[in-house]
Amino acid sequence: MRILLGVSGGIAAYKAVLLLRLLREQGHAVRVVPTASALRFVGAPTFEALSGEPVTSEVFDDVEHVQHVALGQGADLVVVAPATADLLSRAATGRADDLLTSTLLAARCPVVMAPAMHTEMWQHPATQANVATLRERGVHVMDPASGRLTGTDTGPGRLPEPEEIARVALEVAAGSAGSTATPAAVADLAGRRVVVSAGGTREAIDPVRFIGNRSSGKQGLALAQAARDRGADVVLVAANLERAATAPLRAAGAEVVDVESTAQLRDAVRAAAADADVVVMAAAVADFRPARTPGAKIKKVPGQAPAPVELVENPDVLAELARDRLRPGQVVVGFAAETGDETGSVLEHGRAKARRKGADLLAVNAVGAGRGFGADTNEVTVVDAAGDVVAGARGTKREVADALWDAVTKVLSGI
Ligand code: CTP
Repeated sequence: MRILLGVSGGIAAYKAVLLLRLLREQGHAVRVVPTASALRFVGAPTFEALSGEPVTSEVFDDVEHVQHVALGQGADLVVVAPATADLLSRAATGRADDLLTSTLLAARCPVVMAPAMHTEMWQHPATQANVATLRERGVHVMDPASGRLTGTDTGPGRLPEPEEIARVALEVAAGSAGSTATPAAVADLAGRRVVVSAGGTREAIDPVRFIGNRSSGKQGLALAQAARDRGADVVLVAANLERAATAPLRAAGAEVVDVESTAQLRDAVRAAAADADVVVMAAAVADFRPARTPGAKIKKVPGQAPAPVELVENPDVLAELARDRLRPGQVVVGFAAETGDETGSVLEHGRAKARRKGADLLAVNAVGAGRGFGADTNEVTVVDAAGDVVAGARGTKREVADALWDAVTKVLSGI
């Protein structure tokens, strides 16, 4: 494959050298296009020696070959690592003020960007808006890793490891541009209609306050993306997820229904489930909601204790789906987020929940102490309605998603 490796000017530019070596070792031809500031971190001779190709960052070098168009046109894959806040901004606005940004405009192949910057810069609404724009256009922008940054600060903003960038980039090139990870080797869900709920529901206390939970929606999103990559028609019921998070799925042709409360989620899931082969309840659904929601903000009265918020139970959407079977033969899948306690282990609680809820498959995962919520990796044990273990998976949320779909396809085909 002909890979164009864009490098923009951040301290992580040195890791682009390792990425370049990895891609070359895997037999790919790599042409490096650094920005002028990237060359202040790593010299052109390093890139030239390791790629065996000339390195320029200006459109005015080697003009007779019209490089700013030719490089983009000739590439099978463009990887930008690191992608700085400035590069993301220039790419999002379609600037063409150096060879890399011009090349990005000319490229029609999959484009993968691996951002790296300080946490504040990554979280700034301007950067987030640029990332959302790029993702909506089909650019695969990886999430930065969390960890130690240049100084003593830590947080999201680290360049993902070169191995991870290479893996994601080659997978995107091999199949689905816009996918978050592994494209399936076979479209074993082609012709299947699946519904996935993701995120966490919110129950209004008054017009400004709500009861919510810590679900990031990442596992549900990975499930929806994996199903899409495996050929399914996907409806994602997204409980309080950012538009940017669901943009790749929309771009990949999935239907996304945004909801807020459990009642809305229940209605959306049941409507979509009427003609679905599989329903996966990955959303963290609020078990309780305030009995009453006043139309006006509850005011605090100095010196007076606040009125207690009376809670009532929400319907159990998963248990209802398992009971009602809105379509014959429908496979109903749930998740069980458990911490384990003195009355039982994570798996014991999960098995009891499987029997109680009656879902065909229940993915039991341990949460708390940094596990599960918000993390990029997950570990689940899949049990059937009787509580028997049928599969296990550990790895990225995408890997867990694929393992779960493997288990679902077995149920669908009656194995
Ligand atoms: N679930 C649901 N409706 C609810 C609560 C949960 O559909 N009102 C679904 C979730 O989407 C998940 C599964 O049920 O697939 C288990 O969620 P979990 O929060 O682990 O279970 P709970 O039923 O809330 O049990 P508990 O809080 O007692 O552990």
